[in-house]
Amino acid sequence: MTAPHLTIRRLIADDLATAPAWLSERSIRPDGWRDETTRTLIAVDDAGASIGAGIMWTSRVHPGRYSVDVAVAPEQRRRGIGSQLVAALAASQPEPRPFLWGAAEADPGHAFVARFGARTIQRAPLDPVPTAHAARLRPDDRVTSAATASQAVTEDAWAGMYEWTHVDWHPMGLDARGALVEDLWDEIDPELSSIAVAAGGEITAVLLVFVDGDVPIIAGETVARDTADGALIVEGCVRRCLDELARRGATETLIEGHVSDPHLAPLFDTLGLGTRWHRIIEFCP
Ligand SMILES: CC(C)(COP(=O)(O)OP(=O)(O)OC[C@H]1O[C@@H](n2cnc3c(N)ncnc32)[C@H](O)[C@@H]1OP(=O)(O)O)[C@@H](O)C(=O)NCCC(=O)NCCS
Repeated sequence: MTAPHLTIRRLIADDLATAPAWLSERSIRPDGWRDETTRTLIAVDDAGASIGAGIMWTSRVHPGRYSVDVAVAPEQRRRGIGSQLVAALAASQPEPRPFLWGAAEADPGHAFVARFGARTIQRAPLDPVPTAHAARLRPDDRVTSAATASQAVTEDAWAGMYEWTHVDWHPMGLDARGALVEDLWDEIDPELSSIAVAAGGEITAVLLVFVDGDVPIIAGETVARDTADGALIVEGCVRRCLDELARRGATETLIEGHVSDPHLAPLFDTLGLGTRWHRIIEFCP
């Protein structure tokens, strides 16, 4: 189909007030809602109707790439509007950085971003884990409740873990530790969360249970990349988190990990994860 005549301009609050369903169901905000790195563009047809939108923003924890999202009115797709929005976002970058996007592997959006040379940088399992699968994992004596450590010590362990598990594929910005842990304590349950503690008292693995959504989420790894018995203590932490969730009556949880997590990823098969994946890509339009 030929491309319709359209105008691409900055999105204003009025556009959101009158947004059609395909637009209002996505997390789109007015242009510049935070700063110059927060671009929102809208494509309108000659009658002034919204037919597409594109948003680009940076995360305070990961400033090295722009996260992007593009949406086109369902009846207008495959006419080149999405591609024009990507080009317009690229042209409006305050400084050139790769674009980042992620969705379930089966999402048709992946065929769209493939057109821009998308490169997969990470995969994460999407399947829920029955908490009864705790029985498949070995407990470990070094593992205890995260509530036995102070908030500051646990946050420090979390930041250390997060930094090395992301450095190879989505590095944190300098001085991003504060932003990373800003809301952490409101999102997790320390009693359900697990830490491994070494003989000297330091935390060597941290697996937190996030309880701020519909389904609990377990996330974490060893605090340092090279850790003696890393696989065993991470397994013990996941085992304890699943046991504690089951004790509280939760039948399912999600595990937010990456295929590149050396101690956590080997548990994915054991726990029956791997039929559905979230795939994160980067591209440079
Ligand atoms: C993804 C989306 C933005 C594409 O918008 P669009 O205006 O249809 O995209 P374009 O017409 O510019 O498509 C360019 C090319 O991408 C590929 N493509 C786009 N949508 C596709 C689909 N559903 N399946 C397979 N390939 C697709 C095609 O190669 C297409 O070229 P072609 O039509 O000549 O074959 C639109 O389908 C949409 O809004 N989807 C829901 C939101 C979403 O998934 N956004 C992710 C974007 S980062």
